[in-house]
Amino acid sequence: MAPGWWTEAVIYQIYPRSFADSDGDGIGDLPGITARLGHLAELGVDAVWLSPFYPSPQADAGYDVADYRDVDPLFGSLADADRLIAEARAKGLKVIVDLVPNHTSSAHRWFRAAVAAAPGSPERARYIFRDGLGPDGAEPPNDWQSVFGGPAWTRLVEPDGRPGQWYLHLFDTAQPDLNWDNPEIRAEFVDVLRFWLDRGVDGFRVDVAHGLIKQADLANWEEPQEILSGNEADKPRPPMWDQDGVHEVYRQWRQVLDSYDGDRILVAEAWVEPAERIARYVRPDEMHQAFNFEYLLAAWTAPAQYAVITRSLEATDAVGAPTTWVLSNHDVIRHASRMGLSAKGGRPNGIGIGDPQPDAALGLRRARAATLLMLALPGSAYLYQGEELGLPEHTTLPDESRQDPTWERSGHTQRGRDGCRVPIPWEADAPSYGFGPTDASWLPQPPLWAEYALDRQQGVSGSTYETYRTALRLRREYALGRGTLEWLSSGDEVLSFRNGGLTVLTNFGTAAVPPPAGELLHSSAPLDADGRVPTDVTVWVRHS
Ligand code: NOJ
Repeated sequence: MAPGWWTEAVIYQIYPRSFADSDGDGIGDLPGITARLGHLAELGVDAVWLSPFYPSPQADAGYDVADYRDVDPLFGSLADADRLIAEARAKGLKVIVDLVPNHTSSAHRWFRAAVAAAPGSPERARYIFRDGLGPDGAEPPNDWQSVFGGPAWTRLVEPDGRPGQWYLHLFDTAQPDLNWDNPEIRAEFVDVLRFWLDRGVDGFRVDVAHGLIKQADLANWEEPQEILSGNEADKPRPPMWDQDGVHEVYRQWRQVLDSYDGDRILVAEAWVEPAERIARYVRPDEMHQAFNFEYLLAAWTAPAQYAVITRSLEATDAVGAPTTWVLSNHDVIRHASRMGLSAKGGRPNGIGIGDPQPDAALGLRRARAATLLMLALPGSAYLYQGEELGLPEHTTLPDESRQDPTWERSGHTQRGRDGCRVPIPWEADAPSYGFGPTDASWLPQPPLWAEYALDRQQGVSGSTYETYRTALRLRREYALGRGTLEWLSSGDEVLSFRNGGLTVLTNFGTAAVPPPAGELLHSSAPLDADGRVPTDVTVWVRHS
């Protein structure tokens, strides 16, 4: 049997609020996306993944879903979703939608019913309600912290006006965690899968896939939570993450997907370490792919990149799944900025006015080298909207305009993720840089956005956009996604490997190095005057 499309696909993440706005209200929408699908076909990706567009109070930018079977009027209608799916198919693009099973919105009819019902009722049994501790139940049931900061429990006011039970929310208070031990929840999500599969989607990105099942005793866990980490290899597993019970859920879902024609896929968003634990999500009867966050977080040094690439390939090979690669998404600092931060600076959750600012030129140079390295690797790669333009993080966003719940919940200590979610620039001289027909933009765009606009880069040799496009064309031509990696050099300064007909070299050192022998096909930046590969540059060479 031929390997499925997803084993080697390049999948482009669309963050609907920030991609393209058709009606000028400052928030991107589905018709906007449909109108811009041509860009993605031309760029040369295989599929799109859409972050949530479902009805939602938008307490967490749509990751708080109030109805899993509809489209929020902010983004359009179900008919618009159908048109988007059909248009994408006509352009040869697959469509993956986001599924958020760990929690609903507090505006979901189920949660409203739970709040109105009595403790111990079937309505409450859909969520994780507990009595509080202490004589009057005024203490939360355990010490868990929310990923966005503050306690992971909120106390209800019961229908009779008295303070009542507490409910668990690993994220915002407006995102109550579902009780996945309840068969009704399982049945509901199978039905939701079918709803979207019947509409023709090619798969689901599964939000917080490692969180659905909690350790039964809800044992205390005093560690603070972090959006970027599940658990570390050398520490005991936290009682809320990566419990073995989650796998049963995905085995059932796999059967549902397999009962449909075509190759429909599940991809796990699971902040879990080490790579062997992640590989458990992609065993043959579970999901198809899992995001490789260890790769995203790896330092930009030859030894760190060598180690993470090798480990990732080994871990997924062991279960017969393709490896995935990703450098940016809507939860992390864009890699064009992240890679320009001082190595000692750690991993900030957002950057704002007054914070140490990244070196933009260094960041972009490294980001392009990293992208070319990534796109030459076997497996499937994820791109985040705007990275093909070399878009940096908005690192001077005024704090008053921040919308990520992290900023408030952390008591203004973590700036959060707004900086990577700013609406993207299409046309340098248009209002909102072509994001929409008006100047409106739900997050302010930085003044320098014009230089990154698509129309400034199209047809410009050496632009980031053309660099991506060439890479994607060659990746397809040389079937790199389904190739095999063979290391040629893995020193402290230079990494080099073969994948099929291509030799790839990245220079991490301080001195320029000679390129591999053969015809130079592509490079992330020009070679120096002596034809050598400068620092922070990746080259693709066709060997004879
Ligand atoms: C992961 C999503 O990527 C993030 O944006 C969201 O805030 C959390 N899950 C909660 O749904």
